[in-house]
Amino acid sequence: MSPRIERVRHPPLYAALHAACFDAPWPEETFAQLLALPTTFGLVAAAPAPAGFALVQVAADEAELLAIGVAATRRREGIGRALLAAACAHAKAAGAAALFLDVRADNNAAHALYERAGFAAVGRRPGYYRDAHGVHDAVLMRKALAIS
Ligand SMILES: CC(C)(COP(=O)(O)OP(=O)(O)OC[C@H]1O[C@@H](n2cnc3c(N)ncnc32)[C@H](O)[C@@H]1OP(=O)(O)O)[C@@H](O)C(=O)NCCC(=O)NCCS
Repeated sequence: MSPRIERVRHPPLYAALHAACFDAPWPEETFAQLLALPTTFGLVAAAPAPAGFALVQVAADEAELLAIGVAATRRREGIGRALLAAACAHAKAAGAAALFLDVRADNNAAHALYERAGFAAVGRRPGYYRDAHGVHDAVLMRKALAIS
């Protein structure tokens, strides 16, 4: 069954979902600051309880996917695909002609998700991500929203 995707502005919910999706959780304050911006919107997937989220920033005719995640216990159910499609639709409705994102070069699951959704690599940022295991390249990807 498709998840219900809704625009939500509730920083504690994003902080909890982010912690369920990533090894290095972002603090609630980060979400509070981002969601306070008129250029940023967040989406939550309810399936039926909140199971994933996406955060998007729109600037003029370009949008950026700041983060997307599905709780580790709820992956491979189509929730990420639904969130990404909704992020594209909402960004397009907000006036964006393209959606950009950065993804770690070794994140195979995310690469597969993005490629299947029509994103293509348009650049590489060496050493963009740093964690306890070292530095990692980012791949910059883009999808035109006019032809979805
Ligand atoms: C990337 C992520 C959001 C995918 O969410 P998901 O709900 O599991 O993805 P979906 O079930 O919608 O999968 C859609 C398609 O993406 C691809 N895909 C997703 N996970 C995959 C995996 N682990 N391996 C290979 N392909 C994968 C498949 O093509 C899949 O379609 P299929 O199941 O019909 O084969 C999820 O793995 C996640 O939250 N990862 C941790 C956070 C993260 O890395 N976020 C992205 C940062 S840029």
